[in-house]
Amino acid sequence: MDDLMYSVRNVSYRYPDGTHALQDIGLDVRKGEFVGLLGANGSGKTTLLKAMDKLLKGVEGDVYLDGVDINTLSSKEIYKKVGLVFQDPDDQLFAPTLFEDVAFGPTNMGFSTREIKERVMNALNEVELSGLERKSVHNLSYGQRKRACIAGLLAMGHETLLMDEPTAGLDPMGEYKMMGLLKKLNTENNVTVIMATHSVDLVPVFLDKLYILSKGRITRGGTPEEVFNAPEDMKNVKLRLPHIAELIYKLKHEDKLDFKRIPLTVGEARREILRSFEQSLKTQN
Ligand SMILES: Nc1ncnc2c1ncn2[C@@H]1O[C@H](COP(=O)(O)OP(=O)(O)O)[C@@H](O)[C@H]1O
Ligand SMILES: [Mg+2]
Repeated sequence: MDDLMYSVRNVSYRYPDGTHALQDIGLDVRKGEFVGLLGANGSGKTTLLKAMDKLLKGVEGDVYLDGVDINTLSSKEIYKKVGLVFQDPDDQLFAPTLFEDVAFGPTNMGFSTREIKERVMNALNEVELSGLERKSVHNLSYGQRKRACIAGLLAMGHETLLMDEPTAGLDPMGEYKMMGLLKKLNTENNVTVIMATHSVDLVPVFLDKLYILSKGRITRGGTPEEVFNAPEDMKNVKLRLPHIAELIYKLKHEDKLDFKRIPLTVGEARREILRSFEQSLKTQN
């Protein structure tokens, strides 16, 4: 199908030491989707992102990028289309100043000095780092360094971003801002975003679709509503439900309150609780 940005088929991978990190992985990501790979530590998220970016040798199975087998694409061709943001910004940033770091990609792509400047300024504006161009990357906060990595990729004009734990290490406000930024890039700039995370509470608010990874396998996939309707399954894969969902689930199943569905966000929960109250008032009268 031509609206698929990524199609992963029967992908398995063993590290040289024998660790079977990916087993028969299959997933589809449509153009313009915001997709999560949710899994506990060690479940294979980072390995899968690397396999999708052709950074591993000896991967079994097939990865199609925009309909083309990535094995037939050069690193440069992949690099033009897809940007991978590592979990630790310090693995990615290296130039002395923020401007130089973000300019590295477009410079390598051969743009004119004027175009480079324009791309860097636009990208910094997108990630709310305007005005800090001359600052040393070492003196940026952790959250700013994470956003600087994204700017570096945006300046190259990537249509797809692979993000490894973009919210890890950020404070709660930083987490929301990061997710808001990714959502904005996704909806306004039509960037396809695939992110690895273990932050279950953020998922339902922002993501279109998610895949649950456990021990190198995908155990479930679907919309947040579809995936989060089985708390026992989540325990099996060392995850939990979003807090809101867990509360309502317990009220429904242990306290026998009448909830039609399990809400995943505060807003939905509020509506469901009010509805349930109204219902019980009606039956009392
Ligand atoms: N370079 C490596 N060599 C050997 N095993 C590795 C290497 N990197 C990761 N692993 C193993 O592969 C599995 C998946 O790891 P990883 O993809 O990093 O998981 P996650 O990102 O979900 O925490 C884990 O068992 C991990 O110990
Ligand atoms: Mg990881």
